[in-house]
Amino acid sequence: MFEDKKVLTGVKPTGTPHLGNYLGAIKPAIAMGKNAKEHYMFIADYHAINAEKNPEILSEKLKEIACVYLAGGLDPNKSVFYRQSDIPEIPEITTILYAYTPKGFMNKAHAYKAAVDKNRAAGKPDDDGINMGLYTYPTLMAADILAYDTDIVPVGKDQIQHVEIARDIAGIINAHYNKQLLVLPDYAVDEHVAVVPGIDGRKMSKSYGNVIPLFEDDKAIKKAIFSIKTDSRPMEEPKDPEEILVYQIYKSIATPEQLQEMGDGLRQGKLGYGHIKNMLLDAVINEIKDAREKYNYYMAHFDEVEGMLENGAAKARPVAQATLKRLKDAVFGR
Ligand code: TRP
Repeated sequence: MFEDKKVLTGVKPTGTPHLGNYLGAIKPAIAMGKNAKEHYMFIADYHAINAEKNPEILSEKLKEIACVYLAGGLDPNKSVFYRQSDIPEIPEITTILYAYTPKGFMNKAHAYKAAVDKNRAAGKPDDDGINMGLYTYPTLMAADILAYDTDIVPVGKDQIQHVEIARDIAGIINAHYNKQLLVLPDYAVDEHVAVVPGIDGRKMSKSYGNVIPLFEDDKAIKKAIFSIKTDSRPMEEPKDPEEILVYQIYKSIATPEQLQEMGDGLRQGKLGYGHIKNMLLDAVINEIKDAREKYNYYMAHFDEVEGMLENGAAKARPVAQATLKRLKDAVFGR
């Protein structure tokens, strides 16, 4: 689908990824990258410092997210894999973009608006606890995107607006200089990707405390799966699989044959909740076990990962440098 496109994926190193992140976002991003003409994959650590000020936590989260992507099959020889903070051209480009970014774009950006709404709901002043990093977040994100002449940015729905802002800023600059200085990016939202429900039936999310962990040991995964909400109907009672949460989660991981088998068993009253939880557990472990081994390896040998990230930065920087030069030449009339 994106064979002739340059695709860029950014991920904020916050929170430990869970099974829902892995199936719903991480694996699809890796797959999309494999099909692109070029794929840039970076860890947005400058974005993370707006909210996280503890260096130990920041470095641990960065480590985890880098290892999760590698474990999930990201190929650092195919994808340009780097850390945002290793590219000093990004903040330089951001500074130039500021001069062309209407302040109203930032006022309207939903990450900032959501923070204001939260303050209002709590009876606090609008800008309480809001730093300039959060406020100007979409401009930094625009620099991330525009620096590499990105065609496509795969995003979740919550990030569409940010890509539109990047596109608008690029359009303003191109129009001002009447030149194609910046490539206008598009977003791509994968509608087919499953939203994995959590063990209580709401969307799987760390903030709801309803996650199935990703690369923890079998025991921890089993504990979460056996806590999935069920009811007290007896096994023999025929059930509509669509009403059964275990089945809903199974959908995002099982093969069509496996899904059929669980569905039939439920409809015919031949499978109880214990059975289907074990089926789900087997499928989850089967899905993650090789990746988990790789993950543990990379976590224990992070110097290797560090080398990959440095390599990636060495590939990404010249591209960002060329964009920065184009911008400076135009802006300062050099
Ligand atoms: N804002 C994105 C998020 O919270 C992370 C991000 C930063 C990003 N820069 C980006 C994503 C550039 C795509 C492109 O998930």
